[in-house]
Amino acid sequence: MTKRTIWLIIISMGLALLGSILLQMYWIRLTLREQENQFDREVNQALVGVIDEVERRDNRNLEPLADLPPAESQKLITEYMNKGIIERLDGRAGFLFIDSLLKRAVHKLGNRPEYHYGIYSNRDSGFVVVDNFFTVTSLKSSLSRTGIKSGLYYTPYKINIFDRSSQGSGRLFLYLPHRNQIIWKNLIPAAVGSLLFTSLILVCFAYTIYIIQRQKKISDMKNDFINNMTHEFKTPIATISLATDSINNPSIISNQDKVQRFTRIIKQENARMLGQVEKVLQLAQLEKRDLQLKLSEINIHELLQAISENVNLQIKGKKGDLKMNLEAKDPVIEGDLTHISNILYNLLDNANKYSPDSPDIRVATRNIHHGIEISIEDKGIGISRENQKYIFEKFYRVSTGNLHDVKGFGLGLSYVKVMVDAHQGHIQVKSALGKGSNFILYFPKHQNKNL
Ligand SMILES: Nc1ncnc2c1ncn2[C@@H]1O[C@H](COP(=O)(O)OP(=O)(O)OP(=O)(O)O)[C@@H](O)[C@H]1O
Ligand SMILES: [Mg+2]
Repeated sequence: MTKRTIWLIIISMGLALLGSILLQMYWIRLTLREQENQFDREVNQALVGVIDEVERRDNRNLEPLADLPPAESQKLITEYMNKGIIERLDGRAGFLFIDSLLKRAVHKLGNRPEYHYGIYSNRDSGFVVVDNFFTVTSLKSSLSRTGIKSGLYYTPYKINIFDRSSQGSGRLFLYLPHRNQIIWKNLIPAAVGSLLFTSLILVCFAYTIYIIQRQKKISDMKNDFINNMTHEFKTPIATISLATDSINNPSIISNQDKVQRFTRIIKQENARMLGQVEKVLQLAQLEKRDLQLKLSEINIHELLQAISENVNLQIKGKKGDLKMNLEAKDPVIEGDLTHISNILYNLLDNANKYSPDSPDIRVATRNIHHGIEISIEDKGIGISRENQKYIFEKFYRVSTGNLHDVKGFGLGLSYVKVMVDAHQGHIQVKSALGKGSNFILYFPKHQNKNL
């Protein structure tokens, strides 16, 4: 998958997600509006019901007057109608009646919501009753705009009572402090559900992107590895082929010196290929899940001497120097000989490889914490702090710009790390770019078999 395709997928998925989030928000808003409208309709209907009742009762008060002669009854009716709202409602009994009607109507709206009501009198220009209490406050006064009264003042639910006469008429205000909660209650499951699922999709999306990126990195590294590998194999194969051709040449086959020189070359190239195969085998070891160590007693000092002899040839070839400072009193540890040798070889090989001119390598040992510490220090190119985080990863190689001639697969240190861990040891790197590197190994004397 190319970088472009990945980005295209990320952008399309991001857009799709954004679109679906916006759509969901739009739907929730729409439903909210619808719920609000429906709720308001229900409350207004409830208020109409209450006022109908109140007016029926009011009319009952007028009924006896209808039996009087028309002129007289008309006069009395007008007089009655001009009365203030409190008289019209028949005092306290009237409010209690309104309250009981309201209670019934409001409770029908759902879970017994809290409510407050106020009766506003046009004649007194203020609330004359708030929640069953007489009160005389002007609607315009600042007092009437705080607390429950402010709720009543701004409530959208109000209805005229006794609207036939402007003098004695007033309005009934109903205030539901938890109006929004009541409306939201129906929406919460849908809103929470969509939030939850959207977050889940977002998390999965982010994780998928992360995995794609990681897989891409690994696959790029593997490609590099295969390219490197074929290149590394081609050179010795071509050299061996040339050497055998030359030996077969009649003028050379009779010359023993030349034949010996060519066979030496063949041998050398063969050893080089063996080294490469060894690397591939190390890679196979890394991929293996359960590692079985073949434990034996290993004398680290003897092993270091043997390996350094091998590496020393290359170091001497670059006019470098390898110093050993083997101070550990007890150099014997329990471990797998093949793996420990490979670990030491890899570290010494790196120390030499990444010291471009005359390597200056120091190897030291000492006994600490029931085990041995091995320090391999070079004065080579060093590793930046940023890169130190990655060098133990498989296939990772520091991009060395002008140092492209240093060959490698980026496998050595990842193998070292896995094997050191398998031996219950640890490895640490101290390095500064341009100054050199120091790899410090620790192996315990004994392997704890219960781990
Ligand atoms: N002593 C060192 N000095 C400077 N850089 C180092 C040193 N050791 C390792 N590195 C850096 O860490 C990288 C990883 O090292 P590692 O040994 O894993 O791979 P390699 O040497 O490139 O290849 P391989 O060991 O598989 O042949 C190297 O490519 C190099 O950039
Ligand atoms: Mg290496």
